[in-house]
Amino acid sequence: MQISLSSAQPKAWSGTVLALGIAEGDPNGLIPAMEERFSISLSDWLEQRKFQGKNGESASLQLLNPDCASLVLLGMGPLEALDVNSFRQAGAAAARASKDQTGSLGLLLPWNAVDPADAVTVAAQAVRLALYSDQRFRSKPDPSVQPERLELLGPLPDTLSSALEAVHPICAGVELARELVAAPPNSVTPSALAESAAQIAHEHGLDLKVLERSDCEARGMGSFLSVCQGSDMDPKFIHLTYRPSGPATRRVVLVGKGLTFDSGGYNLKVGAAQIDMMKFDMGGSAAVLGAMRSIAELRPKGVEVHMLVASCENMINGSAVHPGDIVTASNGTTIEINNTDAEGRLTLADALVYASELEPDAIVDLATLTGACVIALGDEIAGLWTGDNSLASSLEGAAKDAGEGLWRMPMHQAYRKGLKSLLADLKNTGPRPGGSITAALFLKEFVKSSIPWAHIDIAGTVWSDKGRGLDPAGATGYGVRTLVHWVCKQSQQAET
Ligand code: BES
Ligand code: MN
Ligand code: ZN
Repeated sequence: MQISLSSAQPKAWSGTVLALGIAEGDPNGLIPAMEERFSISLSDWLEQRKFQGKNGESASLQLLNPDCASLVLLGMGPLEALDVNSFRQAGAAAARASKDQTGSLGLLLPWNAVDPADAVTVAAQAVRLALYSDQRFRSKPDPSVQPERLELLGPLPDTLSSALEAVHPICAGVELARELVAAPPNSVTPSALAESAAQIAHEHGLDLKVLERSDCEARGMGSFLSVCQGSDMDPKFIHLTYRPSGPATRRVVLVGKGLTFDSGGYNLKVGAAQIDMMKFDMGGSAAVLGAMRSIAELRPKGVEVHMLVASCENMINGSAVHPGDIVTASNGTTIEINNTDAEGRLTLADALVYASELEPDAIVDLATLTGACVIALGDEIAGLWTGDNSLASSLEGAAKDAGEGLWRMPMHQAYRKGLKSLLADLKNTGPRPGGSITAALFLKEFVKSSIPWAHIDIAGTVWSDKGRGLDPAGATGYGVRTLVHWVCKQSQQAET
């Protein structure tokens, strides 16, 4: 989709769909302007439809006019109450209302109610992300069409076009993550994830190292490797690195859970456990890969970004790990696997040890780690665990700017005793209550304690059954935007 700024007035703009954000009470007089332009009496029609410009209301009408085929009015609520998120929602609503039409979508929103650079960026992002539709697996692609061009109507200063330059790189990262998550487990395998990393590395000049099974054995990654003992697919430990041009004064590591399928192992997923959805168990890796794609294109200064994914499948055969096996992680910690379905933390353990060895300024991991997190926070909010208040607030700030739900959860040390094993240093699961907290406490055992570290559980947010906001139904690409915002903020801090 081509995105541009246009100084055309709504009274004169020509294109396919004209979408206008109407603040409550229509303070800018857009409705009378449209009545005049198209010689129609909109007010009565809107009154019948009870359209008052309240937030979330919308009305569209076909005009059969060669200069403007349809008009979409989007209620935005009171002007004073607008925030950046209002522009995101309005952009997504405009996109949904213009589906099935070709040509250009003209969008006029009350940009000056907030910082107009932020308003146009999020609205443009929202339009592109809400129009996303995945046709890769159909024999006959859906013939429906969508607008090819988005024109943001002003008066808007030309300087805003530089703000718009970040839209495509960020959206491309989100779309990559959605594609990886949505693809079935016979398509996105551990090797396919490694290939996807190789493609990003090749296209954008990043460094890539892929550790094969034997390399992981040599490093003593017994925790990670135990998970894929029962799988016919080779594990891949993927290490992708972005290095800025010029000096880097900060180094961060993004770690993603990369289970391309989670059957549960011998603690097989049965009943309501949604085994058929466990292709999305690589959502953390998709988010970090998507973020790396965006970062590689945005090229933030001063910050070196490492991405780690210990990817494999959790399957069953005669070599699969037994419930009760004791394995040794690469930092020497012994783990009694009392539940083979708590496999994500076993893969992350060795990835976090490796991350710590890079001596970074911060480590952030994303993982579809626990069903308990879905129960606690639902599918619009991910859980954040960290002992570091400054890292917590920078991630919370990034999520807020990105419009992604994130809520800090307690790192309650007293629950650590739930992970005590009679024989080994740790068990991999504690009691069912507070299961997301003990999962985070398990991970903490593998991070060097002097390094600020945060864990984000995206089990709920990785997928949306019905779709919401900018996310059509299916894979959401959750986490990409938060990570990109966070890394870019690290970059600004590194600069000063
Ligand atoms: N991948 C699952 C977590 C999950 C469950 C994500 C549902 C999304 C939706 C993870 O590997 C898992 O199976 N966790 C177990 C942990 C339990 C055995 C302590 C869970 O949450 O049931
Ligand atoms: Mn599992
Ligand atoms: Zn899992």
